[in-house]
Amino acid sequence: YKRITTKSLIEMKSNGEKISMLTAYDYTMAKIVDTAGVDVILVGDSASNVMAGHETTLPITLDQMIYHASSVVRAVERALVVVDLPFGSYQSDPKEALRSSIRIMKESGGHAVKLEGGKEIKESIKKILHAGIPVMGHLGLTPQSIYKFGTYSVRAKEEEEAEKLIEDAQMLEKIGCFAVVLEKIPAELAKKVADSISIPVIGIGAGGGVDGQVLVIHDMLGMNNEFSPRFLRRYLNLYEEMTKAIGQYAADVKSQDFPNANEQY
Ligand code: KIV
Ligand code: NA
Repeated sequence: YKRITTKSLIEMKSNGEKISMLTAYDYTMAKIVDTAGVDVILVGDSASNVMAGHETTLPITLDQMIYHASSVVRAVERALVVVDLPFGSYQSDPKEALRSSIRIMKESGGHAVKLEGGKEIKESIKKILHAGIPVMGHLGLTPQSIYKFGTYSVRAKEEEEAEKLIEDAQMLEKIGCFAVVLEKIPAELAKKVADSISIPVIGIGAGGGVDGQVLVIHDMLGMNNEFSPRFLRRYLNLYEEMTKAIGQYAADVKSQDFPNANEQY
């Protein structure tokens, strides 16, 4: 495979080729996602929810993100691996943000970092970029700020918030980010942002007018039957399939159907 780079993603945008991105948090899943041809693998702090069972993304630590990211990196031959900076690892000041990003790059082998926010974290993003570390922005619904917003509902429906989002996206392009995620905002606004900047806009719940799409892999595989936002397309119902298979195994052990004569030494 030819490796995907931040440059190839920017080229895809200028060629009108849409970018596919999915999360992965472990070696086995990352191998499947990479082999299937997904362009970008995000080691998201959604690991806090789907891997660790926390209600929010806030509890996951930098060490835990590095563990997930290093597992993913060992599996990947083609995709660009982007790693979320977790809550608390970059908000205090630019030096902390750089230190955390350096740890991710050195200890996991990831190719880029992602941070949530706009002008509030501009200096931190610049500091990281100056060190040669590619940065992906993340605007709109930013789950690390859930206690400020109070809900996971659609963002930037009002003029004022929409204006700030456009300014933030243009600022992220200007300082040198290679892409930006827009989460759960009106499709019309997301398209307007994508049309106004030359770096790729990757949407989740942001409609089809952007340059690429991202989903949480456990959600799109249907492993998680409790989370059903409108933007989620389920490609499998693995929750049902796996529950059936595992239930069958448990029953076969009880009934002594498993193992049979051919399944032993
Ligand atoms: O952590 C995550 O999975 C994300 C995506 C939803 C963009 O940030
Ligand atoms: Na995230």
